[in-house]
Amino acid sequence: MGELAERLRSELDRYSPGEKLPSSRALVERFRVSPVTVSRALALLAAEGLVVTRPGAGAFRARRPAPAAPGGDTSWQEVALSADGSTDLVPRSVDASGVLVSLAAPPPGVIEFNGGYLHPSLQPERAMAAALSRAGRRPGAWGRPPMEGLPELREWFARSIGGPVTAAGVLVTSGGQSALTTALRALAPPGAPVLVESPTYPGMLAIARAAGLRPVPVPVDADGVRPALLADAFRASGARVFVCQPLFQNPTGAVLAPDRRGEVLRIARAAGAFVVEDDFVRRLVHEDAGPLPRPLAADDPDGVVVHVCSLTKATSPSFRVSALAAHGPVLERLRAIQIVDTFFVPRPLQEATLELVGAPAWPRHLRAVSAALRARRDAMTAALRLRLPGLALPHVPSGGYHLWLRLPEDTPEAALTAAALRAGVAVTPGRPYFSAEPPAGHLRLSFAAVAGAEEIAEGVRRLRAACDDVPG
Ligand SMILES: Cc1ncc(COP(=O)(O)O)c(C=O)c1O
Repeated sequence: MGELAERLRSELDRYSPGEKLPSSRALVERFRVSPVTVSRALALLAAEGLVVTRPGAGAFRARRPAPAAPGGDTSWQEVALSADGSTDLVPRSVDASGVLVSLAAPPPGVIEFNGGYLHPSLQPERAMAAALSRAGRRPGAWGRPPMEGLPELREWFARSIGGPVTAAGVLVTSGGQSALTTALRALAPPGAPVLVESPTYPGMLAIARAAGLRPVPVPVDADGVRPALLADAFRASGARVFVCQPLFQNPTGAVLAPDRRGEVLRIARAAGAFVVEDDFVRRLVHEDAGPLPRPLAADDPDGVVVHVCSLTKATSPSFRVSALAAHGPVLERLRAIQIVDTFFVPRPLQEATLELVGAPAWPRHLRAVSAALRARRDAMTAALRLRLPGLALPHVPSGGYHLWLRLPEDTPEAALTAAALRAGVAVTPGRPYFSAEPPAGHLRLSFAAVAGAEEIAEGVRRLRAACDDVPG
């Protein structure tokens, strides 16, 4: 986004004061970025007084030049941040856009089908507030916690993961993103390949690339990752790590089939590799789902699995408490990296977690979310079948917060995403979920971040209008 703002800033002189700038759609197509990136870049220039945006009319060069930014000349930083003299085989690239899509608030009036967290009305706001205030008064709450986390909290995580996992094998971490970063940094040196599902969570691809790792995609089908291709990928790449979401995979919603679970662990073990299990939405199971499979870590006596789970998805993006669980010498490596990078999770937040998950409101909250997500999923699938029968919905998930749609062959994904934003609905394009060339265009539609069924119906109606607007 900063890069785009910089490009636009440098081109502003081409326009006379008051002149209209190219449309958001034209900018999306020209710079090959998402509509959200364009709207944030324009917002940045507007905040600097260089551009004026008028809803419905577009963006215009400001009439009066803004006063020069305070401070000195920071242009030297462009050289410093790019002139990398290292001989790394895999250049590091730091790009937060894939993550920001599900974190950034859309422009006012736009329906948020691209959110990655629960709508405030579904968050346990009162229970979290009560937990935090009780936590702040607990004896020692503001002192230093043990580096690995509070023993009772490690115990709670170990119990909820199950199997051979014990409190001694759990580290309390600061959200799934940070736990995944710790795991990848601990397990793979810069330049190493890391096997990833295809498609997969762009935030994890961003972590890998920022650590100088080389993501190698392994295709996923309706039953999760395909074991024969996983074995091939280990052989071809020599990777020592595979990152997997066995439950309600992001974005496909697939659950790793029972007969593949043992196979995946055996293949990784034979390759001398770790499986990073990102169990990110176990608590967002829908009301009508059958019994859930255990985490892979619960069936792994040999320490193949490094397990990641987080509480943010079932609470709020700000409730950044998660866990890493592992078994064997790798635990010490994870612990060391976590301490070097972040020290520890603030003790009041750990105490608040214990208060929250121990309160009677917690199971009630999880049941309510489970029912609401099922109703929203059904509302969205029904609206899509009614208004957009041409979009393929290969799998209706029984957990998680989104649907994954395949676009007809000739529908341009970027143009449709831009048209949707113009029509008043923000959707997530499929491209960032693929670490190599995607087999088809896709959209991911989230039903958790909107206010309810009415907004879902209206969002799908707007998406239909956008589809009508796009050639293909
Ligand atoms: C698959 C997956 N893993 C991990 C995360 C990180 O979430 P958090 O850091 O909020 O726990 C996300 C967030 O969208 C995700 O989709």
